[in-house]
Order: sequence, then C-alpha cells, then structure tokens
Amino acid sequence: MVNQSIRVEESQSRKNKPDSSELVFGRSFTDHMFVMDYSSGLGWHNPSIIPYQNLSIDPAAMIFHYGQSVFEGLKAFRTQDGDIQLFRPEKNLQRLNHSNERLVIPPIDEEFGLEAIKQLVELDKEWVPDAEGTSLYIRPFIISNEPYLGVAPSGHYKFIIIMSPVGSYYKEGINPVKIAVENKYVRAVKGGTGEAKTGGNYASSLKAQEIVEKEGYSQVLWLDGLEKKYIEEVGSMNVFFKINGEVVTPALNGSILAGITRDSVLELLRHWDISVTERRVSMQELYEAHQDGTLEEAFGSGTAAVISPIGELYWDGNHLNINEGKTGELSKKIYDTITGIQYGKIKDPFNWVVKV
Ligand code: COI
Repeated sequence: MVNQSIRVEESQSRKNKPDSSELVFGRSFTDHMFVMDYSSGLGWHNPSIIPYQNLSIDPAAMIFHYGQSVFEGLKAFRTQDGDIQLFRPEKNLQRLNHSNERLVIPPIDEEFGLEAIKQLVELDKEWVPDAEGTSLYIRPFIISNEPYLGVAPSGHYKFIIIMSPVGSYYKEGINPVKIAVENKYVRAVKGGTGEAKTGGNYASSLKAQEIVEKEGYSQVLWLDGLEKKYIEEVGSMNVFFKINGEVVTPALNGSILAGITRDSVLELLRHWDISVTERRVSMQELYEAHQDGTLEEAFGSGTAAVISPIGELYWDGNHLNINEGKTGELSKKIYDTITGIQYGKIKDPFNWVVKV
C-alpha cells in the first residue's frame, strides 16, 4: 500500500503539440511522465511526476533478457464542455494487477494508481486533443529492472505512465478493416500468458503480422493454439460476430485477453436486450454462416481500436466478404453509443466515465 503523496517536478519547457486533425497512434508523447520504484524490503516507493525523459537502466536489467513486464492502455477524452474524463480506468488497474500476478510482479495499489493517472492527466491536460475521434492514450507499464542474469522474478521494478495524443489506431479509421485468419503461427495457449497484457504476446505476433500486412490485411485473427479451429482474438482487439440475429463472441478461456471494451459491448447488448452469447466459435461455423448468408456483421473491440468493423476475413484460400465490406448497423450503433458516452455526448447509465 502506497500512502505517500506524489512528488511533482514540472518541466521547464513545453513541447510543440501535434495538430489535432493529423494525429496518428502512439508517435508523440506529452510533457510529463509518472514513475515509481519497487524494491523488495521497501515495496513501492518514491512516486513522482517528472518531465518526460529517457530512462537510465543497467544493460543487465532483467526486462531486457527475460521480458518480465506488463502494460495497460486506457484513454482520456475531452467533452464538449471542455471537461476531461477517463473510461472505466479502475478496470485497467484491476487487469494490470491480474497481469502482475501472472508475471510474478508485485501488485500496485489500484486506488493509488488511479490517483497517479488523474494527477498526470491534470498536469498535461492541454494535450487531450479535441478533434473528432481523438483522445489521450494513457500507457501504464511495469518493467523488471534488477541487474541479474539468472532466470527468476526480479527484486526491483519501475512502474511508469506515459501518455500520447492519438487518432484512430487503424489507417482505415472507422471504416471496415480486412483481417487474415492465421493458420501457421499461434498467439497463446491455455495455461500460457495469453490473458495477461505482457509484451511477449505482442512480440510473438509480429511474424504473422508482417506476412499478412504484405498481402494487404490490417491484422491477424488468431485461432486456438491446440486445434487451430476456434477463434480467439485479433491481438489489438477482441472480436464479435452477428450470426442470424444473434451476437456471439469467443468465451474467455484463459488464452484470450479480457478486453474492457469487450466487457462494455456485452453490457450494452444485454442492456438493449440483444441476444449475445460468449462461447466457442469455430472458423468452420463462421465459414458456413457466410456461405448460407447468415453471417451479418463482424467487428473488433479494443481501447485503441474502439469498435472496428471487419469487412473481409481471409481464411484458408477463402475471402469472406462481410456485409458487402460496409459498416453494419449494429457495429455503428455500438460505436456511436460507446464513443458518445466517452465524449460525454450521451448519458452514461453504467457509471463508466470518471472525471479527472
Ligand atoms: C489497447 O487497445 O490499448 C491495446 O493495448 C492494443 C495495443 C497493443 C495497441
């Protein structure tokens, strides 16, 4: 438990901010960052907000060798009244601790983590962009920094929060993306680290991603690691399908990341009395639904990706064109509602937003 106040060292200079209408994902960073250290014996200590800067880390630090690290992604939005609000930040802090547990990293105090995020956003609030579809992406992460080459949990860590003003994650924006189903490589297996948000899951996805990008696809859709039959997730988003009026999404099975936007979509659909099931969904089932015309819509959900319609799925030599490559009615309604709540344009019956 950290019950200390956060030391603040303000930057003496301010960087130029990118134009709100030209923002891309994750290329520019705000003026300040949060840092806090952990060492066995002292626990988490020395929480500070300091000017954004390079880190000085021993080359033997364990993060460089064995990848013991976790991260999160959440966003701050500017409302029409100029207020700034976060979307379900407590869920990100809970998930961070869930990932910590899997990676044998000491837990952080979730309330304190939220306080750190709020203070950092408040200090850099001029970085929260105001153009349509833009936001301030917040990236909390923890790295192991004990200099030691033995394979063991580190005795020292750094918890850091950086922030980046962003536009849409995909170059397609809210337009449908093309996704290729991966048949050779796997992202995760049950009992592995698939449901933790740790860098290694993303590093192992790069090979397949590189191959499909050359063929004109935005991302890879991963199948289960054992039988390569059942749909898991895209890596930067969870997936939903509307088949014959019913919405289905892969059930969380231990190798799929429990997306916060995924959870919000489920809550919304249940609130609207739209039938939605979390279960195993095979690629064969999807293929058959496509062939008999009952695969009505497909979309992904994620913090970075928001709601991203899927216009084409490539699987085993078959190009499954979905809803004529257009954004479906339900995908649009979910996108409008979630972003409406995030930007304070519509009421938030779920208490999802937290003012800074
Ligand atoms: C997010 O949606 O925040 C993610 O973590 C996906 C990401 C790897 C860009």
